Amino acid sequence: MSNALPSSALPLSATIGVIGAGTMGAGIAQVAAQAGHPVLLYDAIDGAAQKGKDGIAKVMARLVEKGKLTQADADAVVARISVIGALADLGPAKLVVEAIVERLDVKQSVFGEVEAAVADDAILASNTSSLSITAIGATLHRPHNLVGMHFFNPAPLMALVEVISGVATAPAVAEVVYATAKAWGKAPVHAASTPGFIVNRVARPYYAEALRVTQEGGADPATIDAVLTECGGFRMGPFDLMDLIGHDVNYAVTNSVFDAYYKDKRFLPSLVQKDLVDAGWLGRKSGRGFYDYAEGATKPAPAIAAPAKAPTTVEVHGETPLDGRIKASGLTVTRIDEDEYEDGVIVVDGVVLVPSDGRMATEIAAEEILTDVVVYDLALDYGTAKRIAIAAADQASPNAVEAATGFFQALGFAVSVIDDVPGLIVARTVAMLANEAADAVAQRVASAADVDLAMTKGVNYPRGPLAWAEDIGLDRVHDILNNLFDTIKEDRYRPSVLLRRKVLGGGTFHG
Ligand code: NAI
Repeated sequence: MSNALPSSALPLSATIGVIGAGTMGAGIAQVAAQAGHPVLLYDAIDGAAQKGKDGIAKVMARLVEKGKLTQADADAVVARISVIGALADLGPAKLVVEAIVERLDVKQSVFGEVEAAVADDAILASNTSSLSITAIGATLHRPHNLVGMHFFNPAPLMALVEVISGVATAPAVAEVVYATAKAWGKAPVHAASTPGFIVNRVARPYYAEALRVTQEGGADPATIDAVLTECGGFRMGPFDLMDLIGHDVNYAVTNSVFDAYYKDKRFLPSLVQKDLVDAGWLGRKSGRGFYDYAEGATKPAPAIAAPAKAPTTVEVHGETPLDGRIKASGLTVTRIDEDEYEDGVIVVDGVVLVPSDGRMATEIAAEEILTDVVVYDLALDYGTAKRIAIAAADQASPNAVEAATGFFQALGFAVSVIDDVPGLIVARTVAMLANEAADAVAQRVASAADVDLAMTKGVNYPRGPLAWAEDIGLDRVHDILNNLFDTIKEDRYRPSVLLRRKVLGGGTFHG
């Protein structure tokens, strides 16, 4: 899993074979041809490979129109791609990437034919997103030559390539594919062949926690999407993203990861999503998912609190990442350095504002013998976040929400008041993403650096979950998880043992 082996990319003279000329195969053929390799493109359906090549020619023409490519370069890219009529024609290929139907038996049989056609040292790569590389290799004569080369859609635009090693994969083969992907301008990462590899495993909580928060009545999809983007810094909210991916696809991936981990509750699918699949509300492609895409339909607005009065008294206890904004707000502030409150607690007009630690506001009020408690959410960057989610304890007076809202509005936040759910939205999501990332590292699926790189390059997270957790403080992330676990009492929220070890040992994931 290290980069200790000498890694050399395949030379540009090396022929690349691509099997399957659909969405992914055509994209991969384009990437290889643009890098400068001769490409052989095959598809089982008559005319499909030519159609794939014609599609690439159209993309090249568009790049020329936009001034991003010269006509000569575009012509050269297209000329490098040859359509072939049989797998036996793959003879000259040094690397064959398969992007066909997602079925183990079909992939095994295709690779069996490819193995017979190519040289003994040719590399066989599968773009599978859910099958085991170990299992695909099991029926081959040279399973050490088989590796996963998992591109993301659209392959020409997404930088991440997961290079997956099965049990039999030769490390040198994985290194050549890694180096070749890098030479193609991609961001490769190494991963062991385990269900979901890196991205499809570590990303599960992004969808799952959002679905749980709605199911627990915490907030509606539009509010959760707005909080995760405008406060959490994610490019797209989970409901928007699920509608885009398609609920059939997203639900199938969740189920496949859940089954593959022997029904570990960490990966439990959601009834809320199953309902959409059952209804045929698959998202954008069917015109309806969480949101309505019919013509003239308007998207529901996220919950936003009406303007409230700024508080008269503001006490800041210890350090708070809100400091810059508090100063800029012009509010009069009393600073109290050491007292009964934890760092980061802010008391506005007698209302205690606590950064989310995974407990419900109601629990904090009960456990700390307080009444007016409001919890506020984690932000990627409190200095620039546009929105914040808050939730009040059941014990709190009506004035509590008003005072908290007035305070955050005076700091320039749009305020979404949500129901009192453990961990709110961003804190809960990010803690669970970091927890899954920590487990993947603990189980030697990939290094911490590669997990973080995969999540930023494969699904555009604003930070790698582990680096983000280090930023927040591993002890705080561990507290959030422990509190979620204690409150919800489900195995799903058990903190990763490696995270616990880092907290107790004082280490970091990247140190
Ligand atoms: P697609 O349906 O767009 O294209 C598949 C192509 O393979 C079709 O043109 C089909 O005719 C051809 N094909 C099917 N069986 C074949 C065979 N036995 N021999 C030769 N060609 C055959 O599918 P897509 O989306 O391109 O997916 C292909 C692979 O890539 C799957 O393994 C999928 O899991 C994986 N993948 C898909 C991603 C996506 O977002 N669509 C992302 C990453 C991986």
